[in-house]
Amino acid sequence: MSALFEPITLRELTIPNRVWMAPMCMYSAAGEGPETGVATDFHLTHLASRAAGGTGLVIVEATAVLPGGRISPQDLGLWNDRQQQALTRVTEAIRSYGSVPAIQLAHAGRKASTAGRRGGGAPLEPDAGGWRTVGPSPLAFEGYPEPDALSTTEIAEIVQAFADAARRALAAGFQAVEVHGAHGYLVHSFLSPAANHRTDEYGGSFENRIRFALEVVAAVRAVWPAELPVLFRTSATDWLTEDAEEERDGWTGEDTVRLAKELQAAGVDLLDVSTGGLTAGARIPVAPDYQVPFAAQVRAATGLPTGAVGLITQPEQAEAILAAGQADVILLGRELLRTPYWPQYAARTLGAERRWPVQYRAVVGADA
Ligand code: FNR
Repeated sequence: MSALFEPITLRELTIPNRVWMAPMCMYSAAGEGPETGVATDFHLTHLASRAAGGTGLVIVEATAVLPGGRISPQDLGLWNDRQQQALTRVTEAIRSYGSVPAIQLAHAGRKASTAGRRGGGAPLEPDAGGWRTVGPSPLAFEGYPEPDALSTTEIAEIVQAFADAARRALAAGFQAVEVHGAHGYLVHSFLSPAANHRTDEYGGSFENRIRFALEVVAAVRAVWPAELPVLFRTSATDWLTEDAEEERDGWTGEDTVRLAKELQAAGVDLLDVSTGGLTAGARIPVAPDYQVPFAAQVRAATGLPTGAVGLITQPEQAEAILAAGQADVILLGRELLRTPYWPQYAARTLGAERRWPVQYRAVVGADA
């Protein structure tokens, strides 16, 4: 029996297998006017095809809770009815293939207002549609403009925006919501002492630096049904500590374990464990499975279910991570872009039952 193709139940939601699609920005929403942040036919095709391919849960790309929280003008957003309606089509399509639709809610903080990966990634000048960014402190990400430090009133508004977007996500048919707490975006920048130099209740001590993340989670949890899961994506380490000046030390795996316990108490059901993104200068030992030990550490120390992600491409590799108890689910990013029907291929490799779309079943056969 393959662990990868065992269903998993979080709260009262059963997800048919443990091959999940990682959130990936496609920079494909219209940048201006009433279509800003609205999912297009591309999103529908792109996401539904992974559901048709047998992926158990599909996480829609980082979706901004406010206009200023977009990485680029072409990001998805979820602050108005039009955006909500377009995502409703997406969730219906994903569900029609027996897969579970999830969405990652995000605020890009000091890494907002760029041309996006497709546009080369550089910060946008004001005359090219750029806007002023915000962060915990007026500390810039390398090569980016200095953000405005958020006031406590503005922090409360952003927390509320996460709750409002979660409410819209539920109305759009999503069955799981993921808070983006990774990759140097706003939530992560509050966590890390390398980006957060505040002296109020949101900075300084560990308890103060995690306050914003916990407030966002509590606000989302409060509007999300008790029977459905809330996920949290974390950057388990900034990969900074060894060389960094003491006062600029980054976030570490031990910090992540401490945070995971707090998130668990706040109603998070699974930690999606990534790393990095806080600084451009971090030296990251990128290789297959390089982030898996962090997922394993959290799972062993807290019992909180974890997701492993990052350069996982082979069925046997994914199966081994689960079999070793390092994680509960596997998130695939680029490999699912290359191979939308990867779960079908993996099921055959691992001797598990195939989940073809009903339209194909009689033609291709269960053991094809
Ligand atoms: C990403 N990644 C990402 N992560 C995230 O949390 N939110 C996002 O919106 C995005 N966007 C995104 C776009 C593209 C084009 C790529 C390739 C990646 C990171 C992604 O979810 C995943 O963690 C990494 O790609 C590592 O996994 P793979 O690709 O090695 O399986």
